[in-house]
Amino acid sequence: MSEVLPALVTVRDGLPVTIRGYESGDRARLEAFYDSFEPKRAAQGLPPSGADRVERWLDAVLPTGIHLLAEVEGRLIGHGLLCPMEEGVVEYAVWLHQDFRSRGIGTAVNRIAVEAAREAGFRRIWLSVEPGNRAALRSYSRAGFRMVPGTVFSLEAEMVLDLEE
Ligand SMILES: CC(C)(COP(=O)(O)OP(=O)(O)OC[C@H]1O[C@@H](n2cnc3c(N)ncnc32)[C@H](O)[C@@H]1OP(=O)(O)O)[C@@H](O)C(=O)NCCC(=O)NCCS
Repeated sequence: MSEVLPALVTVRDGLPVTIRGYESGDRARLEAFYDSFEPKRAAQGLPPSGADRVERWLDAVLPTGIHLLAEVEGRLIGHGLLCPMEEGVVEYAVWLHQDFRSRGIGTAVNRIAVEAAREAGFRRIWLSVEPGNRAALRSYSRAGFRMVPGTVFSLEAEMVLDLEE
């Protein structure tokens, strides 16, 4: 039983957002979410373009880790992925529907993801992000991630958050 999920957060303009764990019955809605997501392949080639590729990608990522779904009035509008890497380290990424960006939802999902990773016993969260993706960089740093020195001028900046108190 999680003490972190589900979570109800209120973001800009008083918009209530539910953040909860993925369940197997959500698969079709998640595929539909990525089908309507734009622009495709905008961040490091993800999310994939085309139903087949989305299916293969979800087949690969969903069986492990922690998957957070963000909903507004029952509509699925975001997916946060915590995918285990090496021992104790988990990779994070987040995708919000284009109609729901820049309203504080990404930062809210990040913060819940950090607590979910902590609750699951991971010691570090790692992510990579294109240095030009300012909304992503800012939302990750608002949630406590720090830049890995020396990566900010690379093709993919890296950020980490250590979870051990
Ligand atoms: C990246 C993403 C998750 C961020 O979530 P969001 O809800 O749009 O961001 P927030 O509203 O929480 O904003 C976070 C910060 O970024 C800033 N920001 C938001 N949109 C911005 C933009 N287009 N350009 C520059 N800064 C922006 C906000 O002002 C805020 O800073 P502040 O707290 O100092 O005001 C979301 O935009 C998204 O899904 N983008 C497409 C997919 C993607 O790039 N995912 C990341 C893969 S690594």
